[in-house]
Amino acid sequence: MSIIPSHLGRTKPINDLPKPGTLAGILPSVEECRAAARRLAGRLGAKLIDSPPTEGLYLACSVEGLWLRLRTARRDLAIRAELGAGRQAYRAGHASPRGEAIARACGLPRYGPRYVVDATAGLGRDAHILARLGARVTLLERSPVILALLEDGLDRASRQTQSLGWLGRMRLIGGDAAVWLRSCTAAQRPEVVFLDPMYPRQTKGGAPGKEMQILQALLGTADDAGSLLQAARAAASDRVVVKRPRQAEPLAGELPHYRIIGRSTRFDVYLHS
Ligand SMILES: C[S@@+](CC[C@H](N)C(=O)[O-])C[C@H]1O[C@@H](n2cnc3c(N)ncnc32)[C@H](O)[C@@H]1O
Repeated sequence: MSIIPSHLGRTKPINDLPKPGTLAGILPSVEECRAAARRLAGRLGAKLIDSPPTEGLYLACSVEGLWLRLRTARRDLAIRAELGAGRQAYRAGHASPRGEAIARACGLPRYGPRYVVDATAGLGRDAHILARLGARVTLLERSPVILALLEDGLDRASRQTQSLGWLGRMRLIGGDAAVWLRSCTAAQRPEVVFLDPMYPRQTKGGAPGKEMQILQALLGTADDAGSLLQAARAAASDRVVVKRPRQAEPLAGELPHYRIIGRSTRFDVYLHS
């Protein structure tokens, strides 16, 4: 069991984290970011670098926040957690429980604000929408690199006054969600567990988007999501919601009770029996 600081200065116990993926290192973009980059390098067991690698993944610490970058011979892709500003903030700010398929799948229009565990937090966008719509959301993320990006996004959002309501409903914990869900007490049991595991690699229909390319380079594709689904179904008192590509097979071959189908995405809903 190890301890890492979560966002907003709180400290949470977590289960053992896997070693970070194949990061070439952490690049302070300007001198004033060097101390923060060094602290992060120590925490992730990565090295500080002075220039971008010719190829591969690296973190760039800049005054605008922390970026995960993927450099290839042909391009340099970058992602960061963006919750308080930009397109994501606009979408979440204009969301309504009936208008958002994820909110309908989680039962928000019918039951009102609920306690949701987002067991695959990633860059926090789905959790952000749910929190904006009134849900209390515990975010679980097992990749230390993604966790660092998410902490950075939450920290930046916390400096914007308009974030204060929904941010207070989000709680970030680092560690393996399957372990956390299996060990949660009756009082900690969420009404809803939301899962958005890594999508299977695309074999047709073109290259995946920028974000998925970087995430797949860092994390690969999930092959243990079936056991996460089992842990989620045992823990959720009302339902488990799984986000899938529209045409994908159900997770672990388990048919849901019903589906909410969007243009490119589908939400499979497993009710507690
Ligand atoms: C596709 S991303 C989720 C994107 C997210 N829904 C969003 O809105 O940004 C999947 C994430 O789940 C995390 N993950 C997968 N299995 C996990 C587990 N058992 N426990 C915690 N995190 C997990 C991966 O590290 C990855 O960051």
